[in-house]
Amino acid sequence: MQARSEATAAWRLRDMAEADLDAVLTIAAGTDLAGLNRDGLRRELQLPFASCQVLAAADGVIGYSIHWVVAGEAEIHAVAVSAGIRRQGAGRLLVESVLERVGRAGATRCQLEVAEENAAGRALYTGLGFCEVGRRRDYYGSGRDSLLFECRIMGSKDSTLPNAEISITMHKSHSAF
Ligand SMILES: CC(C)(COP(=O)(O)OP(=O)(O)OC[C@H]1O[C@@H](n2cnc3c(N)ncnc32)[C@H](O)[C@@H]1OP(=O)(O)O)[C@@H](O)C(=O)NCCC(=O)NCCS
Repeated sequence: MQARSEATAAWRLRDMAEADLDAVLTIAAGTDLAGLNRDGLRRELQLPFASCQVLAAADGVIGYSIHWVVAGEAEIHAVAVSAGIRRQGAGRLLVESVLERVGRAGATRCQLEVAEENAAGRALYTGLGFCEVGRRRDYYGSGRDSLLFECRIMGSKDSTLPNAEISITMHKSHSAF
């Protein structure tokens, strides 16, 4: 069996393309992100303020992220990893890359919503310095609240935010292109 470090070192981040949409839809299926269909994804690819990335292994796409930067504020709309690849660092890598990009784009904070019962999503984001700042009742359907998470981007001059600063660093074993 391939060692974890060998497998992850071969992962590559790149911009999402139309040809990736089948893989992206497969990864999203069965998650809270499944509501974004092919047409919605195509629109995301066209939006000037949206960034769509995929994480690719040698045999195909294993994860993706979608975020927006508007008026100095970033929002993560999707981060998902293939079910068979989870708990190997792909989700963290995708979020770290988003944070690096939004920092470079001049965003001072980054927000996202995650279902309250999504323990994996909550742990992923809190582990990267996000703090819970709000709740939307029934956002994902009756009895399914969303939690709003936020982090301040390092270097931001907005010192009024109560949240932890985060460090934007990429794992050295991965590269973005
Ligand atoms: C959330 C998700 C993206 C995490 O991806 P992943 O590749 O498994 O995450 P990583 O391996 O990078 O894990 C990073 C950290 O997140 C936390 N984490 C991830 N999965 C977890 C789980 N099932 N239970 C508890 N903590 C978890 C851990 O702290 C983990 O660090 P560790 O492995 O060193 O303990 C993945 O579970 C997924 O695709 N879920 C469906 C889509 C979704 O819910 N997205 C989030 C909302 S946008």
